[in-house]
Amino acid sequence: MIVLSCNNVSKAFVAENIIENISFTINDNEKVGLIGLNGAGKTTLFNILTNNIEPDSGEIYIAKGKKIGYLKQNTIIESTMSIMDEMLLIFDEVIKLEEKLHEISHEISSFTEEKDTEKLEALMDTYSKLSEQYVEADGYSFRSIIKGVLKGLGFTEDELDKPINILSGGEKSRVMLAKLLLQKADILLLDEPTNHLDIEAISWLEKYIKNFKGEVIIISHDRYFLDNTVNRIFLMENKSLKSYKGNYSTFMKRRKIELEQAMKQYDEYEREIERQEEMIRRLHAYGS
Ligand SMILES: Nc1ncnc2c1ncn2[C@@H]1O[C@H](COP(=O)(O)OP(=O)(O)OP(=O)(O)O)[C@@H](O)[C@H]1O
Ligand SMILES: [Mg+2]
Repeated sequence: MIVLSCNNVSKAFVAENIIENISFTINDNEKVGLIGLNGAGKTTLFNILTNNIEPDSGEIYIAKGKKIGYLKQNTIIESTMSIMDEMLLIFDEVIKLEEKLHEISHEISSFTEEKDTEKLEALMDTYSKLSEQYVEADGYSFRSIIKGVLKGLGFTEDELDKPINILSGGEKSRVMLAKLLLQKADILLLDEPTNHLDIEAISWLEKYIKNFKGEVIIISHDRYFLDNTVNRIFLMENKSLKSYKGNYSTFMKRRKIELEQAMKQYDEYEREIERQEEMIRRLHAYGS
């Protein structure tokens, strides 16, 4: 099934075209590495896919109900809250549900026989419905899910109470990544996710992406990371996008062959020009 499709998208800044007629589709569970030189337009493409920039022409299609999670390049989070509290914001609904359950359970336990049983039954009924919702929304596990992600990205238990404002730039980037991963998106767009990660956190993220049930597009200059995570490469070059099946190493092999072919064609073209110039020289020599 197609989850995301980009049809003939073009974008220019001022007078210069950055992207010209780019088209591709992303299918179920596909993991794609988006590569290209600095300034090739990779971040611009992410901004178009996420509706932050409007393309000059072309359309983006995203399958119904699919939520995109976007980790922006070099954005820094500012917050006076602690790391843990910032993560808990994502689970706001579940926490409210938890409070409601506590309230009802308190009401039920303080019920005395003289009170009307119909009301008690109604309370029990509401309690059981809300309990189901609570389980569904990871109510019993969200705190350990948060800790698992933060630990995976290199934070120790002691650091979770640190206010975000005092963290270093790299630590803040890791907080942003943790927040994004906890938000339960269906399609992840990650712009240079490994920039502030050490080797252990990179390997944790590789496993996370491999196990992720959804689609991922990763902009990265880290070839080892791409080799361990993606099964397709998009190369942005000369304002266009070209797709290659396989991981980064497979792409490099294919690319080497392509460049050799292009060089060969160029050599043949050069030889042809030399041949024609020689012919012209000879014709001139005859003519004089
Ligand atoms: N808002 C803007 N206004 C004008 N030019 C822009 C704007 N955003 C990006 N550009 C230009 O578009 C080109 C592509 O930028 P983009 O950020 O998409 O590149 P990139 O492939 O992500 O590069 P990098 O690998 O360095 O992150 C660059 O030349 C950039 O200067
Ligand atoms: Mg960029």
